[in-house]
Amino acid sequence: MELRSERAADPHGSMHSETGGLPGEHAGRSRNPLVKITGLAWLEFEKPDLARAERFLADFGFVVADRSPQALVLRGHWAGTPSLVVRRGTGSRFAGPAFAADTRADLERLARATDTRVTPHRGGFAVELADPSGIPVRVVYGVPELTALPERHPLPLNVGAQPVRANATQRPARRAAQIERLGHVVFGTTRFRAALDWYLDTLGMIVSDFLYLDGQRERGPVMAFMRCDLGSVPSDHHTLAMGLQPRTGYVHSAYQLTDLDEVAAAGEYLRERGHRHSWGIGRHIQGSQIFDYWRDPDRLMFEHYTDGDLFDCSLEPGWAPMSVSGLSQWGPKATAEFTGAREPGVLLAAIKALADKDNEIDFAALRGLVKAMAS
Ligand SMILES: [Fe+2]
Repeated sequence: MELRSERAADPHGSMHSETGGLPGEHAGRSRNPLVKITGLAWLEFEKPDLARAERFLADFGFVVADRSPQALVLRGHWAGTPSLVVRRGTGSRFAGPAFAADTRADLERLARATDTRVTPHRGGFAVELADPSGIPVRVVYGVPELTALPERHPLPLNVGAQPVRANATQRPARRAAQIERLGHVVFGTTRFRAALDWYLDTLGMIVSDFLYLDGQRERGPVMAFMRCDLGSVPSDHHTLAMGLQPRTGYVHSAYQLTDLDEVAAAGEYLRERGHRHSWGIGRHIQGSQIFDYWRDPDRLMFEHYTDGDLFDCSLEPGWAPMSVSGLSQWGPKATAEFTGAREPGVLLAAIKALADKDNEIDFAALRGLVKAMAS
């Protein structure tokens, strides 16, 4: 019993993350943040062909909440704001996240501190900012929420000594996922430290886990999994994850499903529909989610997940070396397709980032990142 309570008190005591920060290392939270956002409201994308975008996104599990020649608004099954706004644009690109503010007064405080204005937006209010990487960030309040849609309950599982399902079979449907909600978004950035501090100081996020380059811990962290500080209310292990990379921008976004059968059956459906698989099914270490990654027709990455960790504000950041093998506890080995290491343009981006002195990409960082991708 004692061992169990010790473990419960120290979630980093297992393989999730063996150590915390050392004296003098980044604390992973701001002492006095400007506001504390409460979650991700939605993500915005631009796509040249909305009908083509919708075919993948509907197969992936979104429900169309609104459709016009100029924009597609997609939702999950849970009550809340829509998860995605896809506008018609000249190319396929990520156009930024919208985070949810706790109060209207928080929007006013943000606007004052950043010399911007609170403007009406989608039936509520918004402040438009940009993070130090240059990614546009909206913070919203009061946007009308959609009511919940009916969804399948988690399957009752015959586990342990007390089976819950007698005289009944297990038949999860092979169909498009029923996405519950938007979970998190992941960015790469060439200016990791400045961007990290901005999300902690300005939006009040707190770090659940840091990753550092093996052998270069003295550089400080190069990846952070950040959650919302909801006090004693547990929140997703990460709402935003961000890592030092030669290219700034979107890496993937993740959407919660009800259980493992939903992830697996929805994956079979996506495969049958001819969509491109990236990596999975496996279970992550940082965040513990059971994951499955897919690519849209323009190679943007979308993740199905279930059973993620929830931390309240009391947990301090874990620290671990960055490696591909450290991305999962079980599952197939992550490929270069997933890490993007062999994507066209990566080498050129690395050369450009090296030449630009106004960022954190230097030879040692690149060497560390390449080593992490191979280990
Ligand atoms: Fe993820």
